[in-house]
Amino acid sequence: MSYDLVVIGSGPGGYVCAIRAAQLGLKTAIVEKRSTFGGTCLNIGCIPSKALLHASEMFEEAGHGLEALGIKVGAPKLDLPTMMKHKQDTVDANVQGVAFLLKKNKVDSFIGTGSIAAAGKVLVTKADGSTETIDTKNIVVATGSDSAPLPGVTIDEKTVVTSTGALELNKVPGKLLVIGAGVIGLELGSVWGRLGAEVTVVEYLDRILPGMDDEVAKQFQRILSKQGFKFHLGSKVTKVELDKAGAKVTVEPSAGGGAQTLEADIVLVAIGRRPYTEGLGLETVGVTLERGRIVIDDHFKSTVPGIYAIGDVVRGPMLAHKAEDEGVAVAEIIAGHAGHVNYGVIPGVVYTQPEIATVGKTEEELKAANVAYTVGKFPFTANGRARAMRSTDGFVKVLADAATDRVLGCHIIGKGAGDLIHEVAVLMEFGGSSEDLARTCHAHPTMSEAVKEAALGVEKRSIHI
Ligand code: FAD
Ligand code: NAI
Repeated sequence: MSYDLVVIGSGPGGYVCAIRAAQLGLKTAIVEKRSTFGGTCLNIGCIPSKALLHASEMFEEAGHGLEALGIKVGAPKLDLPTMMKHKQDTVDANVQGVAFLLKKNKVDSFIGTGSIAAAGKVLVTKADGSTETIDTKNIVVATGSDSAPLPGVTIDEKTVVTSTGALELNKVPGKLLVIGAGVIGLELGSVWGRLGAEVTVVEYLDRILPGMDDEVAKQFQRILSKQGFKFHLGSKVTKVELDKAGAKVTVEPSAGGGAQTLEADIVLVAIGRRPYTEGLGLETVGVTLERGRIVIDDHFKSTVPGIYAIGDVVRGPMLAHKAEDEGVAVAEIIAGHAGHVNYGVIPGVVYTQPEIATVGKTEEELKAANVAYTVGKFPFTANGRARAMRSTDGFVKVLADAATDRVLGCHIIGKGAGDLIHEVAVLMEFGGSSEDLARTCHAHPTMSEAVKEAALGVEKRSIHI
């Protein structure tokens, strides 16, 4: 067998790359070691977490949100097995969808662990130990990432879990202790908190969601505290001991000092993810790694000709849509076109309630880079639709270049923020200004009007505040 392209890994980076390559006429194959396609994102990441976030949000709404709208339903009862079935059905539909798309685009698939025997040769080792060698002109490594371990803490995926175990719990923990106030900790903490767990978050830094806009993070922490989250910021976990009742967790100030012991039924370790390159044979063929990530140039080329890499296994944010866009770009480059990813405009969304969405630079980044900027801000308390939906928490912040008015970033905390952010992403792709956004007619009454009002606010001419 001989191919133009073999992709190793079928996550959002790999499967999108394979489909785009096939569309462009390349004879393409994909190798996946799981029994289903779709990678972390579809099997144990984005999709199952969003299914549980949605279901738990409905549970919370039924319990606490409906009465004020004049709807009395009584206290909702949790049927966790059915909620988990909803999650699994969602995953199944998505992974089967990818299998269908690969077939439709005539991408050959190999289920087994791929390794690179040499440039141009991929070895597939199947579950029964048999092997097969595939010849190919080009290889794209899209093997993704894995949960980062916490030194000294043993993960058993029962009491001490990663996100994978936290998506599979068969009962609501009385006390959930989350290590890491990042995206996974706050999303999955929200799921189990809404279903009744007492959630405590231990975070090494003195803030939640590092890297996101400071003001957004501060307001979000206040909102989560109202939702029942307890935070130990500037703290680190030094020991987790298991006993019959669950876990005893030793927490110390990050800067050193007296320790305290917290009890938990479940401990979720969510301190980041690390690139996954195990067993690929990269070192043998001479592919250079840096801090675990495959080193690539601006065209996704590794240090060995014919071997490319994309997604979580290379530099940049570990996000599904970033991996997808890289998949498209590298396929286009291999096919002789001009593939490109604009890393300045990659939105990030935290799917909590309210949602958080961000694109472009934060104020902190602009200050650090000495860029003069102007700020327009608009709160959802002044938005009619938000009031009608009793969803007035949050605001929109638009940042524009002080000299040119070009929009440099936008940060939103509020219901539906993950959808609202995209008009700003499109604007930024076109190099648009805050005035362009402010002069665009926005339908009334929508949450999007808050985006327009924030853009008007850049020139201090918001109407509704
Ligand atoms: P992956 O999706 O990790 O896929 C890599 C694939 O390669 C896997 O299927 C793996 O089995 C396979 N593989 C590895 N080694 C080999 C080998 N040697 N041979 C064959 N196959 C191999 N991102 C978002 O943008 N939005 C979200 O809402 C979101 N939610 C998340 C929630 C959770 C709980 C987690 C854990 C992650 C979430 N992410 C989210 C991150 C997102 O899942 C990743 O950024 C994305 O999956 C990366 O895609 P990828 O293609 O690089 O790798
Ligand atoms: P993260 O990088 O978002 O957050 C990890 C947090 O743990 C940070 O706040 C960090 O300061 C803290 N931390 C690190 N070491 C610690 C320690 N020893 N003790 C206490 N705190 C510690 O990583 P997370 O949440 O694990 O997510 C991994 C990746 O998955 C992220 O890069 C994210 O992009 C992706 N993801 C994206 C989602 C989305 O887009 N909605 C959802 C879930 C995951």
